[in-house]
Amino acid sequence: MPSPTDKLIARKEGSIGWIIFNNPDRLNAVSLDMWEAVPIVLEEFEADPEIRTIVLTGAGDRAFVAGADISQFEETRSSPERIQHYEDVSTFAFNRIAAAKRPTIAMVDGYCIGGGLGIALSCDMRIASEGSTFGIPAAKLGLAYGHEGTKRLVDTVGPSYAKEIFFTARRFTHEEAMGMGLINRVTTKEALAEYVQSYCSMISENAPLTVMTAKTVVDESCITPSNFDEDKCNALINECFASEDYAEGRTAFMEKRKPVFKGK
Ligand code: COA
Repeated sequence: MPSPTDKLIARKEGSIGWIIFNNPDRLNAVSLDMWEAVPIVLEEFEADPEIRTIVLTGAGDRAFVAGADISQFEETRSSPERIQHYEDVSTFAFNRIAAAKRPTIAMVDGYCIGGGLGIALSCDMRIASEGSTFGIPAAKLGLAYGHEGTKRLVDTVGPSYAKEIFFTARRFTHEEAMGMGLINRVTTKEALAEYVQSYCSMISENAPLTVMTAKTVVDESCITPSNFDEDKCNALINECFASEDYAEGRTAFMEKRKPVFKGK
């Protein structure tokens, strides 16, 4: 299947459409062109009636996705206009995964960090190998996580674990992730692909209308109540991106040193 970039592989195998984040030198960190390619590939998969499930995964055996590509931030995520463009493109990709017209599984083998966890949370379920780790290091970089992604996290693990994940910005083991309900299933590294394929077969044999109705009704039942203050959340998010700490966070990552944050 064609994909606009070789950093996002689209492959059809039987009734499964595979989306593979392919930037292994950077632990499959997602660059702008990869975010842009996600909706295009999903569109192609959904136009194919033979594809019954979609699996998202990372190339190699070290990472699912280690977040957005920080090495691009200076170029693509520094001025207010570029930050907005970046947010629009990545948010569209997350939402497009969440709205996929097929059941989606994130197959996680290794690091599942930041935007990588956001991608996994946009899928209907997450199946991981032992030794995989999970976290959102936004507070180590001084940036803010979008409110839709935050809501997906809260809907999945509840508010207290969501706060623990954000406040500590640490990495959690697969056992901790299972305990929080962040992931659905764990297998050995060797058994992972086969396990995921068997899940896809199980789903494909079931009545498609029932499965897709369940997806829609579950998603609708998670919809935000109307008193959610989106403007307040967006103002706080923009403040993070405009802060000195965000510049310090990305510089410190590139210089491989600990950031010194000032809270402004
Ligand atoms: N963006 C860009 N490059 C990244 C990256 C990211 N999100 N995550 C990892 N990389 C790069 C590293 O810079 C390194 O590049 P180098 O070989 O040129 O030095 C390479 O991938 C391998 O990563 P490394 O840090 O050496 O592996 P590790 O096993 O020691 O640590 C992580 C793995 C995931 C803990 C660590 O790479 C990390 O903290 N990455 C950033 C995660 C993050 O903050 N994501 C959120 C972004 S919004």
